[in-house]
Amino acid sequence: MDTGFTVAQLRAAVTDAVRAPSLHNSQPWRFRLRDEGIELSVDPARRLPATDPSGWGTRIACGAALFNLRLALAVAGTPASVRLRPYPTEPDVIARLVPDLPRRPTPAEQSLHAAIPRRFSNRAPFWPDPVPADARWRLGEAARAEQCWLELLIGVSAVNAFAEIARSANRVLERDPGYRAELAEWVRSGPAPDGVPAAAGGPQSEPQDLLPARGFGGRNRAPGRDFEPEPLVAVLGSAGNTATDQIVAGQALQRVLLTATDAGLGVSMMSQPIEVPGAREALRLSLGRFGTPQMVMRIGYGQPGRPTPRRTVDEVLDLPVVPA
Ligand SMILES: Cc1cc2nc3c(=O)[nH]c(=O)nc-3n(C[C@H](O)[C@H](O)[C@H](O)COP(=O)(O)O)c2cc1C
Repeated sequence: MDTGFTVAQLRAAVTDAVRAPSLHNSQPWRFRLRDEGIELSVDPARRLPATDPSGWGTRIACGAALFNLRLALAVAGTPASVRLRPYPTEPDVIARLVPDLPRRPTPAEQSLHAAIPRRFSNRAPFWPDPVPADARWRLGEAARAEQCWLELLIGVSAVNAFAEIARSANRVLERDPGYRAELAEWVRSGPAPDGVPAAAGGPQSEPQDLLPARGFGGRNRAPGRDFEPEPLVAVLGSAGNTATDQIVAGQALQRVLLTATDAGLGVSMMSQPIEVPGAREALRLSLGRFGTPQMVMRIGYGQPGRPTPRRTVDEVLDLPVVPA
């Protein structure tokens, strides 16, 4: 077994890690080698105090980046053993990865890894084609493989009940000037290494829409028309809601997203009902499940999505200063 990871291995894995999703594409992560282990930490300068006061979204995003790191290392034949929040006195260190026994990647790891550059948030309306049973099963398996659950809302009344919770959460958020200002700050009309380009923001919402969409300044659409016929809505949840549970949920989220991409499905995320504590509790009760909802997804077939920008690997690495 190798004694540690090298800078070259770190750089290669980070190229994949930064493709993970994050709230408003804030990319709240940093990576470094410490004692030959790879460490993933929160970037404190990239917190979103109004949208994410508890740090939940940062930990979900870092968990998703961690899943990509794990996949990249496994596919390179150098899988990692992972400790979450390894230092009690350094809560911003999300995970430490050290080499595990080298082995060949599995076909499943290879296909999920190949999906990393093809996964984008797809906020456009999906086609009416239903998501087939085998794809639904694979999505649930992806969540379970990462110690989480995925509840697919079946039937009009379940979707309508969820939609009511989500719309009311969205109204609560939109009443907050700090939330609105933060959202506006991360919408990009020109080239930028982070934030959400207006072109990726999906069409503008309309008053009759079933589900709320974040106002990323997307294109206008014909007034009065339904957004899409019958969305598949999925709720991802974890056993508990500690900081560690949220990192676990971030990894499960990324596994579900990559599984969906591999199955040719588009996904967009909808976290308003997670961000408002009362709505999250109402959602939990409506599902009748143990544990905590951590993300809601809209899943379906549609036009391919588009990539959003990322900071370069050099911008997110902390490398030790080598004495001259
Ligand atoms: C914790 C979290 C919450 C998110 N919430 C939403 C949301 O409510 N609405 C939305 O359209 N996208 C949401 N996203 C998606 C991000 O906006 C998206 O990941 C980011 O802009 C990068 O784009 P990409 O997913 O296409 O790579 C969320 C992502 C994360 C990780």
